[in-house]
Amino acid sequence: MNIRPEEIAWRPNLPQRMDTGIGSVGCGGIVQYAHMPAYRKAGFRSVGVFDINREAAETVAADNNISRIHDSLDDLLADPAVEIVDIAVPAWEQLAIVEKVAAAGKHMLCQKPLAEDFGEALRIVELGRQAGVRQASNQQMRWDAGIAASKELIGMGAIGQPTDAQILVTIATPWHLWPWLAQAPRLEVMYHSIHYLDSLRFLFGDPQWVTSRHARYADQAPVVGESKTVTVLDYENGLQATVAVNHYNLHGEPEAVYRFLGTEGAIEGTIGLLYDYPDGRPDTLVYRSGDADPVELELDEKWIPDAFVGPMAGLMIAVEEDSEPATDCGDNLNTLRVVHAAYRSAAEQRSVQPSEIRG
Ligand SMILES: NC(=O)c1ccc[n+]([C@@H]2O[C@H](COP(=O)([O-])OP(=O)(O)OC[C@H]3O[C@@H](n4cnc5c(N)ncnc54)[C@H](O)[C@@H]3O)[C@@H](O)[C@H]2O)c1
Repeated sequence: MNIRPEEIAWRPNLPQRMDTGIGSVGCGGIVQYAHMPAYRKAGFRSVGVFDINREAAETVAADNNISRIHDSLDDLLADPAVEIVDIAVPAWEQLAIVEKVAAAGKHMLCQKPLAEDFGEALRIVELGRQAGVRQASNQQMRWDAGIAASKELIGMGAIGQPTDAQILVTIATPWHLWPWLAQAPRLEVMYHSIHYLDSLRFLFGDPQWVTSRHARYADQAPVVGESKTVTVLDYENGLQATVAVNHYNLHGEPEAVYRFLGTEGAIEGTIGLLYDYPDGRPDTLVYRSGDADPVELELDEKWIPDAFVGPMAGLMIAVEEDSEPATDCGDNLNTLRVVHAAYRSAAEQRSVQPSEIRG
């Protein structure tokens, strides 16, 4: 297919109303180097912050010109200027916060994973539905330039019928950025590959079977959980997707590539962020079809921080249009089903259907 790069719309849609008040709960690393820079760039309005570590809240408020530092979650929720609550705390803290946000009748952006326990994730979604508020999950890789552009290309029929998808990552991950993750018994798929699994669902829909193998590096203490995984998703139509990730490439060159192959063409690119996390570089993407010259897209944005505009913009649009957010938490349960199917597959040494995961 003949593709003109300028016809590939990969940047996020923005809401009509740009001054919706955002209140942040949790002001740690990801808020400082991803949420806030993205919101500043988009022109979103942060109106308040709360963190159990007041110093973190003060840092974010000072760096981003935010006037209100709240003393408690209740205080933040009582502020009428806060229309959307942006939750960014470790997963096991999220449910207790969602309970209060839902009770206050406020829309919310939840962090991924919604919870480590599937039953807790179900409860989070139930609370949002009962309260009648919009709930989005922060699965922002869908707006990573390479993935967003691939979605457009696949939607245009540029690769024909998708037959194979590969996301292959071999890097040295700076685990010290998340000291609390070292003790997580479920690490790689729950916290990292979850992005790729959600992106594959975004591009190709829900798989029929999940097969996963998990391993550890010889000398990874104090990190406890699995750090090298291979997950294969088999689709009813014959599409096979492979996610292979190694976080302990301590001596070789880093590599983070994606490939989406089909009957009419192929998309191939790199995930720039992973070449130097969290600074990274823009993604690359090349499209090839038959004898035509390859088409290279110029993607001038990075996963961090740029993709973090997407989930918040998607939530704001959903509030405006009274529709489901692009990364609706209810839909995110199906990403979590794939994640839990991967763990069940590895533990029981068999292929697992996501529908087996019921909580
Ligand atoms: N790409 C991504 O989407 C991405 C990347 C990194 C982290 N994360 C997620 O973001 C969340 C935060 O990660 P981080 O790297 O910023 O961790 P962090 O440890 O740097 O920050 C977490 C912050 O939350 C605060 N906190 C903890 N419990 C709280 C509570 N009950 N109320 C208010 N504040 C509380 C802590 O004091 C801390 O400042 C995690 O869920 C993590 O999985 C997502």
